[in-house]
Amino acid sequence: MSTILEDYISKHPGSAQRYLEASQLFPGGVTHDTRYAQPFPLYMTHGTGPRKWDVDGNEYIDYVSGHGALLLGHSHPAIAEAVSRQITRGTHLGASTDEEMRWARAIKALMPSVEKLRFHSSGTEATLMAMRLARAYTGKDKVIKLQDHFHGWHDYAMAGSDRAAPGIPQATWGSMVVVPAGDLNAVEDALSRDSGIAALILEPTGAHYGQLPFDTPNYLKGLRELTSQHGVVLIFDEVVTGFRASPGGAQELYGVRPDITTLAKIVAGGLPGGAVGGKADIIDMIAHRGDPEWDNTRRVYHPGTFNANPLSAVAGATCLEMVATQPINKQADAMAAKLKAGLNEIFGKMEVAGHAHGIASMVHVVLADCDCGRELCTMSHREIKEATASPAVTAMKRGLQNRGVDIMGRDAFLVSGTHTDGEIGETLEAFEETLAAIRAEGLV
Ligand SMILES: Cc1ncc(COP(=O)(O)O)c(C=O)c1O
Repeated sequence: MSTILEDYISKHPGSAQRYLEASQLFPGGVTHDTRYAQPFPLYMTHGTGPRKWDVDGNEYIDYVSGHGALLLGHSHPAIAEAVSRQITRGTHLGASTDEEMRWARAIKALMPSVEKLRFHSSGTEATLMAMRLARAYTGKDKVIKLQDHFHGWHDYAMAGSDRAAPGIPQATWGSMVVVPAGDLNAVEDALSRDSGIAALILEPTGAHYGQLPFDTPNYLKGLRELTSQHGVVLIFDEVVTGFRASPGGAQELYGVRPDITTLAKIVAGGLPGGAVGGKADIIDMIAHRGDPEWDNTRRVYHPGTFNANPLSAVAGATCLEMVATQPINKQADAMAAKLKAGLNEIFGKMEVAGHAHGIASMVHVVLADCDCGRELCTMSHREIKEATASPAVTAMKRGLQNRGVDIMGRDAFLVSGTHTDGEIGETLEAFEETLAAIRAEGLV
């Protein structure tokens, strides 16, 4: 009988060939670190709804979901129609447009904490701008960041991640205060010790959209109180959770109002885009004050060639108007709940140590058991990270791909509003077979 790796190689000759060529073009052969895989990553050709196809003609149920951007699945007809229409009217008019106002109104309708906003091209830009706005607004330099929380790849965002940091000046990190996630005392200590703190930024459902969760409602409420007491700007990075944790994001789900929210992914309806929004007096740090156009000494400067570009604007507005008026989140959440229950049943039935946890349409698998309630996992972050690093998880990812299921990163299923009972059933079948194959190889 062939191994998982042998099957992977024999099912994907076209991807193997392309990877050889791509290795001459791109460092690591890939264009996004998460897509790096050995012996080679998969090359896809197209997608529709919850499914996509690779260059060898294999079909996949997709849980990468555009790195979380595709709450409406691939090529949703409403998005395709809006973008096709706009493309004939201009992709960049070098001017303000009605479309950017429609997009902004759609965001504000779902997220009342966003009083004013600016658009960007990515989440990385949004978190960079959020930190700069908080620094400008408070006149202070330091930002508290939680260990392992991901806010993109700019220099400040990389502080405290578990990635190495060549190319980042030490001085940059001198303005970042990294505290353990989930520990209110650590935040209180940092705020009491240091009066130079401008902001605290976090992923409100825990690092990596809930892979490493905490006692969310209480922790978020505690952070809200502490930051208010100390005059510190609270930034929710809702790049993934925005419009996914609930139609109004994690802030709606948990009833905690941040001062600034950063958005990307779903906000732009599957096209490139991001936004920073929040309290008007903070976001207005970008506003012109009657200064000459070239005088940026008293305001936060914000150019950006593709800010609010019309294609992203119509895709984003169309997507968010659908989120507001149709049961998109309800469907995605229901399918995720079914998937999570099914995965946990399989672990139990096969007596393999493992479990699935997560909230809304974000499901994480850990190849280790615990007695959590399967929503906010209570295992230590160290244990979850160790379990996720194991070779069995690499085999799980490949084994699922061999059976037509593509997951996000090493552990996550990001479910869209287009996944149905059929996809969940097929996924569970593939998962059970994969687990059996991993066991046969002695990895679990
Ligand atoms: C929570 C969070 N913040 C920021 C980012 C960066 O967004 P982008 O990849 O659009 O730069 C990401 C990307 O995955 C993210 O998950």
